[in-house]
Amino acid sequence: MSRALAAVVLVVLASASGCKRESAPAPSASASAKAPRRYVVGMSQCNLGEPWRVQMNADIARAAAKHPELELRFKDAQNDSLRQRAQVEELAAQGIDLLIVSPKESAPLTKPVADVYKRGIPVIVLDRAVEGDEFTTFIGADNQRIGREAGKHARKLLGSGKNVIELKGLMTSTPGRDRHAGFREGLALESDAAIRIVFEADMQWLEPNARKEMESALASQKSIALVYAHNDPGAHGAWLAAKAAGREKQMKFIGIDALPHEGVRYVREGILDATFLYPTGGEEAVELAIGIFAGKKPEKKITLGTRLYTKENVEKGGEAID
Ligand code: FRU
Repeated sequence: MSRALAAVVLVVLASASGCKRESAPAPSASASAKAPRRYVVGMSQCNLGEPWRVQMNADIARAAAKHPELELRFKDAQNDSLRQRAQVEELAAQGIDLLIVSPKESAPLTKPVADVYKRGIPVIVLDRAVEGDEFTTFIGADNQRIGREAGKHARKLLGSGKNVIELKGLMTSTPGRDRHAGFREGLALESDAAIRIVFEADMQWLEPNARKEMESALASQKSIALVYAHNDPGAHGAWLAAKAAGREKQMKFIGIDALPHEGVRYVREGILDATFLYPTGGEEAVELAIGIFAGKKPEKKITLGTRLYTKENVEKGGEAID
């Protein structure tokens, strides 16, 4: 058979088998040519000690399961910025196609994230921000807005007692700073001189710390009208301390996160008076990654919405804040 004829036969065979190739590849190459491209996504999680972060990873895994071409590699920094830094570097060195990172703190993670981005690897920053703009996209809810809504809601809940306690998240992380600033705006302290923040402390997002700080607040403050904690574990820790002192009914509690099995349940049980949804953004991150792999240019910032849950609306699924 002449070479030209052999080529024609191969083309015919290839099209008969549904293959669109012009020339027939060698058998071993044919298998890999047909296999869809796989994408490795590294996910650097700052800790898995808090239920909200377990939920974020589960949201990512569930969304990724719909895309068999994705392979996920999770790292847990166990609440240690240096470890997270090393893990980000390790993932990049493994040759990932995209990095998702939810940083513990902004400053220590800024450079490692920027370095990955500068290597040409797309980076999605989730929930807690880094400094500057050397990443592909930031996805998260507007924490200042949530803080402001919490402040406005606190104003509504305050009766004659006006002494407020603020248990802050880690102030070296952006949600802590933003939830703090927003709360002050929403509370509009200047329009009611009687409203006073009589105690504030950084509980670093952790329930046991919040409980301890609240014990100090209870010891020093005879009258407490409301506790605002930057997350639901913090609000719950404060409630446990107040309950142990027999004072939990004298004050209102507001938290943030609204996980169904955590904050929303606390509202249903009458432990919290309100909680605001803080979506994990896990699913959105995976969908964005798929878009990036398909060649789409993503927005620099994607802001997710929130919902308010109270005793009145919890059975209806809360209400959207817009
Ligand atoms: C979990 C958490 C959440 C909080 C978020 C802020 O680590 O503390 O409770 O809403 O981080 O980044």
